[in-house]
Amino acid sequence: MSTITVTASAPDIGAEITGTDLSEPLTAENRAAIGDAFDTYRLLVFRDQFLTVDQHVAFSEHFGRLEDFPDPKDMADGHKTVLRVTNIDRATNRLKPVDDPGHKSFTLGTSDWHIDSSFRTLPSKASMLYAIEMPTEGGDTMFADTTIAYDALPDARRRELERLVVIHDFEETRRRHGLPPRPPEVQAATPPARQPLIAQRDHDRRALFIGSHTAGIEGMEDAEGRALLDELKEFSTQPQFTYRHRWQPGDMVMFDNICVMHKAMPYDLYGARRLLHRTTVAGQAPLLAVQTA
Ligand code: SIN
Repeated sequence: MSTITVTASAPDIGAEITGTDLSEPLTAENRAAIGDAFDTYRLLVFRDQFLTVDQHVAFSEHFGRLEDFPDPKDMADGHKTVLRVTNIDRATNRLKPVDDPGHKSFTLGTSDWHIDSSFRTLPSKASMLYAIEMPTEGGDTMFADTTIAYDALPDARRRELERLVVIHDFEETRRRHGLPPRPPEVQAATPPARQPLIAQRDHDRRALFIGSHTAGIEGMEDAEGRALLDELKEFSTQPQFTYRHRWQPGDMVMFDNICVMHKAMPYDLYGARRLLHRTTVAGQAPLLAVQTA
């Protein structure tokens, strides 16, 4: 029998899970109960979990194969599937210079509403963010659920959006922040991806697949496509569709990476230390577009 308790968070996004210690191997019953809660709530919070990197990986692997992060300096303890989300330099344990180009682009990129890896042809299924060291002020993460945002759109608007195809391009986020393009060989590894604007989910629901990597809409002028994407982002990030997580060390937040956009909130990059570890479960299939007669 499962030992977990699922408590829905207000208003409509997410749930808190208690009754399991993620440092221990998950029982089949708890794995199934967490999977069901994830399908229902799309964002799960586990508190007071004190995990090694191996334990974080073992928990995450219950939900699928993990993506690799190619840059060794971003990996936690040499684990290529665990990304350090941080302003702390791994080699020196000191704060990174705020103008360090890699750090600056990561900080700017994660402070916009985005979906991790949405520029991949097979978008990632889920991300697990685990807090290790957090500032006393700021540095929260905001989450916005585009499933409940989609449900709140007027019927006529939904029908207009059904067949649209969005281009997701990693370079778009850099362009928007005035950052130089990445070298061509790096860009070639993550070319722009065509994605349905409305994703049909396995469990009978639909979601807007948007976020800061969106570069335009096929068949629309740039300005028109951008205006529509901006309108949908504004709509989806209204308070009734969002959840703000105020981190404590030991918190794990697992979220659906198709329909939950997120962004890091500001904190004192010059004085406060912030370290989270992120794993990301790879996608196995392209997004399904809405089937219309
Ligand atoms: C991320 O987008 O990977 C990190 C979000 C955060 O720093 O809060």
